[in-house]
Formats: sequence, C-alpha cells, structure tokens
Amino acid sequence: MSFRRNALLALICLAASSLALAQQAPIIIKFSHVVAKDTPKGKAADQFAKLVNERGAGKIKVEVYPNSQLYKDGEEMNAIQLGAVQMLAPSLAKFGPLGVREFEVFDLPFMFDDYSALHRVTNGPIGAALLKKLEPKGITGLAYWDNGFKDFSANKLTKAPADFKGLKMRIQSSKVLESEMRALGVIPQVMAFSEVYQALQTGVVDGTENPPSNFYTQKMHEVQKYMVQSHHGYLGYAVIVNKKFWDGLPPDLQKLVATAMEESTRYANAIAQKENAEATDAVKASGKTQVVALSPAERSELKKVLVKVHKEQEGRIGAELIKSIYKETGFDPNKL
Ligand code: LMR
Repeated sequence: MSFRRNALLALICLAASSLALAQQAPIIIKFSHVVAKDTPKGKAADQFAKLVNERGAGKIKVEVYPNSQLYKDGEEMNAIQLGAVQMLAPSLAKFGPLGVREFEVFDLPFMFDDYSALHRVTNGPIGAALLKKLEPKGITGLAYWDNGFKDFSANKLTKAPADFKGLKMRIQSSKVLESEMRALGVIPQVMAFSEVYQALQTGVVDGTENPPSNFYTQKMHEVQKYMVQSHHGYLGYAVIVNKKFWDGLPPDLQKLVATAMEESTRYANAIAQKENAEATDAVKASGKTQVVALSPAERSELKKVLVKVHKEQEGRIGAELIKSIYKETGFDPNKL
C-alpha cells in the first residue's frame, strides 16, 4: 500500500515538475529578416510577433531579429533548413540558390502592372502551387507579403536604356535580375542586402534597384544621386517556416500561429503601398537624392527593352508558368 502511495506521489511530482518546465519554456519561433523594422516586412513581422505573443499564453513566443543581425542573405536559407531559425520572409528573388527557380517569375521586369494584378497570382492557385514547391526542401510556405515596385537608383541619371550602359549595379541573387541588368548593358553584381549601402558609398557599385521603403530605410539616399521612378519590377516575400518544426507544433498552437499569420498578412499587404509612398516623399524631402519621374513614353521605351527578358528566361522558369500568369493578369508581351 505504502509502495503504491509512494509511486503515486512520485508520479504526481514528475507530472508537476514537467508541467512547471513546460510553463517555463515556451516554444520559440525565431523570425529572422534582413530589412529595417520600419519597412512593410519589418512592421508585419513585428505585428505577427505581437499577435502570437499576446495570444500564446506563454506557451509560444515569436522573437524577431531584423536588419540581418542574425543571418544575412546567403546564410538564412541554410539556417532555416538546419532549424537554427524557424521563420524567414526572404524576397521571392532569393529562392534560386535553394533550387526553386520558379519564384523568379516574380522578378520578370514589367510582369505586373499593379498590386491587384499581382494579388490575382499570389492569392490564387498559382501562388499556392508555388509555395508547395518548397516542401521537398524541408520548408513550408505560409504566405506572401508585399513590399512593392522597384525603382532604379544610381549616381548617374538613368532614364533611357542607353543611360545604363557600362554601369555596375547590385542585384539580389536571381538569374532573372541578372538578365534584366544585362539587357540594359549593366554589369550586375550579386550582393547581400546588408552590404549594399557600403558598396554604394565606396563606389564598388554605381547603383541598384529597390522599392523606396528599402532605399530610404537603408539610407541609400545618402549615397545615390538619382532615383528614377521606373516601377519596373516587383519585390515581395514568401513567409516560410521550417517544415519539421511546423508539422511538430501542437495543433492548437499551429492554429494560433496560422491565424496570426493570416491577420499579419492582411496587415502587411494593406500598409505596403502607403509605406513606399511615404518613403518616396522622405527621399524627396532629404534633398540628397533627386527623385525623377518617367514620362509614359520613357517608361514604354524601357519596357520594350526589358520585356525581352521574359522570353529569354522561359527555359529557366518555365514557359507554361509565365503563360499562366499572363492569363491571370491580362498582360500581352506582344502588345507593348
Ligand atoms: C534586397 O536584397 O534588396 C531585398 O530582398 C531586401 C528585402 O528583404 O526586402
């Protein structure tokens, strides 16, 4: 009898101590990204953390590491696959090195006229099928977050295609962006985002392309003379999570995180356009970089040169995928 009572007591103690341990040790989601907090992605990541941390009752917690402080481009994909971080939101231009080239379809210049054409793709079956391609890499795709449309910047005014010839420009690690730059006679240089400011400052490169929010928050306006409002390509993100970690979450917590992600996605995509408009105003107000608009004729000249990249990159991305996006957006490369 006393043996049974002791055993029961021991069991109760064990249960109580593991309960205490469980209470003490929340599941941690490390969410690493490379941009400033004050950007569409930075704000959305913080909003996601806030929602999970408020609702998680101490059982699950999100820690956000902005500004490449934990991992830079080129390191973060490896880190998520190894489980050193659980979540990232890399730009769609950065999935090639992982072996998923199809995301580079979003880098095709002049592919999307506006956010609504883009959302027909990301929120529809094409977007969902692309996220599925990450699964064999040990990654689950949760959402698409917008940044915005890119503008060219340089120390030289680059309005006409001929103005670009011979310039060295930083690009993200995308073969499509490489061929976009080559179409303009630019020498492209792949470089981690965290290194761009210094490369511009020291003249390692002459220019780059960015949505204004990235341009302004990395202080590139201090080291670039011109920003041309070309809006020639899209930059957005796939929010991704380590698949093993995701599949192993208790169902109630996975649901909590998924709901917080849906809400943060709505938030991210609602603020992106305004954030970029405000960043453009801030660049203008700085008086350091001259913001130059393109006339419809100038933009169309640039478009004619750059749309050739679509055909050129069919082999890499898949002609069918490109065609399916044209169908969704109504874009016709033969009618420019
Ligand atoms: C870049 O490297 O230019 C961007 O992908 C940075 C980012 O995450 O927006």
